Amino acid sequence: MLHSALLNVMIAAARKAARTLKRDFGEVEQLQVSLKGPANFVSGADRRAEEILRVELKKARPGYGFLGEEGGRQDGSDKSHTWIVDPLDGTTNFLHGIPHFAISIALEREGTVVAGVIYNPVNDELFIAERGKGAFCNDKRLRVAARKQLNEAVITCGLPHYGRGDLALSQKEIAAVQEKVAGLRRFGAAALDLAWVAAGRFDAYWERGLSPWDMAAGLLMVRESGGFVTDLEGGDAMLVKGHIVAGNESMHGQVLVLLKAADRS
Ligand code: IPD
Ligand code: CA
Ligand code: CA
Repeated sequence: MLHSALLNVMIAAARKAARTLKRDFGEVEQLQVSLKGPANFVSGADRRAEEILRVELKKARPGYGFLGEEGGRQDGSDKSHTWIVDPLDGTTNFLHGIPHFAISIALEREGTVVAGVIYNPVNDELFIAERGKGAFCNDKRLRVAARKQLNEAVITCGLPHYGRGDLALSQKEIAAVQEKVAGLRRFGAAALDLAWVAAGRFDAYWERGLSPWDMAAGLLMVRESGGFVTDLEGGDAMLVKGHIVAGNESMHGQVLVLLKAADRS
């Protein structure tokens, strides 16, 4: 499949960073058995991958700004374009030797995400999307699931963990959704949660407490697969507010109603 020059740049950067990430993942699996554990090693893996992405993307588009989870924001001479990058989404999975994590790269133009790449180096699934041009996984066109009944739906979410988030609110939301659906999942990599909604594997997804690099590429992926994405108030401020709900039109609407009711209760 022929990709645009822009996507080629993003894919090449992701594949290059993935090589170190995969090597480091192999090491982590060994480190599991050591008493000290792999935590410090993993923070190095994030940084190494982000540095490769920064260098590769800069080489191809020297003026663009860069927002990365590890290194923060670096402004470029071109104020209209910013890369939004998570070099390793799913750190806890990575740390535990669970092969479910990804590199996420988005390009924002004048405040709108126009391209996204999410790459899982372990199973070699490459999700790509460009605004107005559709979304693909390993060159196969993606469509969100067609299911409309909540009692047939498998839904994924995020959970606040140690020291983070509003546990009471999360428990209300979980309870409200849990009793209506066929299955509720927590996979631990927001970018892949969104990519898997785009692929029709999950019927919907919601989470709070996210950062722009967790969502930017994935939200475009869902929209380009015919899905709906909003913040938990139904607006378009996901990247600012840090919360998100995604699914096909029907699932998105139904889950949003359940969550809003739970938040009021
Ligand atoms: C995390 C993952 C996780 C989500 C967390 C994120 P990280 O990103 O996406 O699924 O629940 O809120 O911070 O730290 O693994 O890059
Ligand atoms: Ca992340
Ligand atoms: Ca990360």
